[in-house]
Parts: sequence; C-alpha cells; structure tokens
Amino acid sequence: MSEMLYRPRRLRRSDALRRLVAETTLTVHDLIYPLFVTHGQSVQEEIASMPGNFRWSIDLLTGEIERIAALGIPGVLLFGLPVSKDMEGSEAYAEDGIVQQAVRAIKKTAPGLLAVTDVCLCEYTSHGHCGRTDSNGQVLNDPTLELLSRTALSHAQAGADIVAPSDMMDGRVRAIRQDLDAEGFSHIAVMAYSAKYASGFYGPFREAADSAPQFGDRKSYQMDPPNRREALREVKLDIAEGADMVMIKPALAYLDIIREARAITDLPLVAYNVSGEFSMVKAAAMNGWIDEKRVATEILLGIKRAGADIILTYHAKEMARWLIENGGHLP
Ligand code: PBG
Repeated sequence: MSEMLYRPRRLRRSDALRRLVAETTLTVHDLIYPLFVTHGQSVQEEIASMPGNFRWSIDLLTGEIERIAALGIPGVLLFGLPVSKDMEGSEAYAEDGIVQQAVRAIKKTAPGLLAVTDVCLCEYTSHGHCGRTDSNGQVLNDPTLELLSRTALSHAQAGADIVAPSDMMDGRVRAIRQDLDAEGFSHIAVMAYSAKYASGFYGPFREAADSAPQFGDRKSYQMDPPNRREALREVKLDIAEGADMVMIKPALAYLDIIREARAITDLPLVAYNVSGEFSMVKAAAMNGWIDEKRVATEILLGIKRAGADIILTYHAKEMARWLIENGGHLP
C-alpha cells in the first residue's frame, strides 16, 4: 500500500485544509429571503406549514426588515395578500397595494436592502390563476401581459430594485421590459422565473399566500416535470426577451436543470429552494429525525454546486445566523 500515489485523505486532515480545497462556497451574500406581507395592524401570523415564517403587517414588517438587514442578507422577495380578490387581480397593480406599501417601507427602513417583488396575479385573482381567464376557465396569455407589466411598473414606481415575474405567460419578460423602459425604469432589473415547473412542492406557499387555484391546475402554463430541453428553451427565450437573471424553480428535484442552465448562460443564475423543500426539512428536524443545520447547509451547498449563483430560500435567516456563529465559515 505504501506505493499509492494519490491519497485523497491527505487533503481532508483539518478544517484549514478542507477549507483550502473547498470547491464551492456559500455565504450570506448568496441568499434572498422571501417575505409575506398583509394588511392590518400588529399582524405577525405564523404560517402553520412553514414554522418560523410569518405574514407581516407593514407596521411590524419594519422590525423584521431591520433584523434581516442586520444579518447581512442582501435582499428580500415580496409576496402580498390583498384585502379582496377580483377577476382581474386589481390589487396586484394598485398604487397603494400591499406589496407597493411594503416596498416603500423597506426603502425607508433599510434603503440598502434589495426589494425584489414577485410579479404575478394568483394571490390577487378570485379564481387563483396567474392570468386573466375566459368564461371557460382558460388562462389567456396575451391579455394577461398588460396586467403583469402594470404590476411590475407599479412595483418599480414604489421603489423595487428587481421585478420577478413568476406567472409563466409567454412573452411577459419582453412586455415588462418594454413598459419599464418606456416609463423611465430602464435601470430596474428583471429576474425571470424562467423554468418554473408545475410542482407539488408549492403546497405550503399556497397556504401562506392563499393563492391556490379555485379550479383546475397550473399545468397549462407552468412546465411539465419530465422536460429538460424545454427548460433550456425557456431560459434562452427569457434571455432573448431581456431578462437580467434567470431562475430555475423548484431547486432540489431540478438540480440537473440548474447545471444545464449554468452551461448555457453567463447571466446570474437563481434557484428557488421552494416552500415544500423547506417544510420537509423543518418537519423532519422538528421530529428529531435530522440535524436541520447540517441538512439545510448541504442542500444550499448542493444548489450552489449545481451552478446557482443566488438562492431564494426560507432558510436564509437561519443560514445567516449559523454562518455568523461559525465565524463566516460553513457550519
Ligand atoms: C406565484 C408563485 C408561487 C410561488 C412563487 N410565486 C406559487 C405557484 O406558482 O403556485 C411558489 C413559491 C414556493 O413554493 O415557495 N405564481
């Protein structure tokens, strides 16, 4: 055995050696934390299926924003719960809509924290679909584009740094880009949910945001899980339409897609570690079945290793704390 040339264990002998040869990093700068905002006063309502995550009213949101900024997390992704829903999702693009109010509050409280807004209609429409529907319940593509770009524009006017369309209508990145440019917001970035699959992993989110479709499902607009090449076409299409960042969602069952998207673009690549992925880890950890810190770290590292630059994750605050406790090193 003594003539063995390569002994991989030589480089695993200490923390310092392991860090020296680590091929992937994970820092707080990679993370964006999703937040749910709601109307009312003094609301901090825990989301039952997502322990540790809350729906916030604007007055209490400011404290949460200060805590997030203090952890060094660079940005938040905003989702809103309207007062009432209608066929056209009109509160999505109302000047004093809940997300618009939240963006203004963030820019006042922590101007350096990036306000990323989810641009979609499903939280705001009475039918719970991500676009306009006809009398047969079909989701209409082109008539929806105008509402989406109105929504994105109203977010930009409120002060959003990045708008993130998640509806999966065809052509929405171009429509949003054109309208932002025409209205003097050519400096505002579009983070496109490019390959967003019709996934069971969104279950806890739909409870949190009260956005489940009232009939049917989202399979006519979100992607079909068996498809890989189609995801790459979606990524290329959004880039051609003017996306500044492209996203793959969910992350864990789609790590191959993240890897392949990495190979075809130099744009920042985002992965959404979605609600169901978070809740599975949380539930197992609460049962004492897994070590949450270790498992969450491995998951986030795995998403980075697959090729993502940025991760949207409900674990962002906990991960930031674990990194701080460990002197900035991976726990
Ligand atoms: C809105 C939207 C959804 C998510 C982000 N934006 C839900 C859906 O498409 O049904 C899911 C996020 C998560 O599960 O964490 N269209």
